[in-house]
Amino acid sequence: MLKRSIVMGCGSFLPDKLVSNKDLEKDLDTSDSWIQQRTGIRQRFIASDNQLTSHLAIEAARKALFNASIDASEIDLIVLATATPDRTFPATAVRVQSALGIQKGAAFDVQAVCSGFIYALAVADNFLKLGQAKTALVIGAEVFSRILDWQDRRTCVLFGDGAGALILQAKDITTDKNNLSKDDRGVLSTHLYSDGRYEDLLYVDGGPASTNTVGKLRMAGKEVFKHAVQKMGQAVETALLHNNLSVSDIDWWVPHQANKRIIDSIIERMHISPEKMIITVDQHANTSAASIPLALTQAVEDGRIKPGHLVLLEAMGGGFTWGSALLRW
Ligand code: UT7
Repeated sequence: MLKRSIVMGCGSFLPDKLVSNKDLEKDLDTSDSWIQQRTGIRQRFIASDNQLTSHLAIEAARKALFNASIDASEIDLIVLATATPDRTFPATAVRVQSALGIQKGAAFDVQAVCSGFIYALAVADNFLKLGQAKTALVIGAEVFSRILDWQDRRTCVLFGDGAGALILQAKDITTDKNNLSKDDRGVLSTHLYSDGRYEDLLYVDGGPASTNTVGKLRMAGKEVFKHAVQKMGQAVETALLHNNLSVSDIDWWVPHQANKRIIDSIIERMHISPEKMIITVDQHANTSAASIPLALTQAVEDGRIKPGHLVLLEAMGGGFTWGSALLRW
């Protein structure tokens, strides 16, 4: 019997502290109009000093469990995507596991920076399809504010903190991928890619093995921009082809939220109806692995994404890493 990962619910969490573009103008040679015109970002949320990635993740996970009507005791797999773990080790996922009172199954982190949530989703989906777990908690959580160089206006204005979570549960199915129907819910495909030749275009200049410091984010913005449009476009084209779908079949597009201009370029390149694109970069800025589950949760909570809808997620990040995931909600 084939198994499929069904989406049971989602949740998200943002820190209280809202920092507007105007707030950044006070200490930085930047302006609200530059940031809005070049990125679409209006504000971001920043974690307080004692708020760690695990704290944001735990709150998002609790909301997702509530939304899915699932008890934490049912979770037997936690995959947490982050590039800003609480500690070098253990994994932030085991802190979440412990806080939720779970003592069974496996919990670990994956690191694919801004593509992290798609990577975590793909890993969890494969565990469930193979029967190695039954109910998975997939989280994207970041405190990028800790790895920003707050003197570097080219990068620090672009990012924010937050977390989002999704619950998947394995169900037996009888249909095959060429026989999609509205009842055929769940993760329909995932596609992951990476190309380490580009590691120097977006990276953190520290780490336990290289400098014994945490380091700060460095980015060649223009180059990353070009690759983001091309690689996210390629990932969604592959997903559509694989599932025998066309652009108009997709109900909602949930791209990684890095820059509104990147999203607009994808809309143009793929001839997507702009109203089908979920956009939260204006409110959250780029929250790396948290950006997709934050956007997804917002669109579910405000009633845009409904059961039966086809939702295509796509992301690109440091590495480079990139990928896509097609879900029927
Ligand atoms: O999550 C995946 C990874 N991230 C991304 O996908 C981000 C990809 N890149 C981008 O979004 C854009 O390249 C940026 C938003 C980072 C930059 O936009 P841009 O249109 O590529 O601007 P630029 O880097 O070419 O800079 C244009 C000008 C420069 O001044 P000069 O040299 O022309 O005098 C910058 O120094 O804008 C200046 N500038 C700023 N001015 C005010 C750069 N940052 C700022 C700033 N405020 N914050």
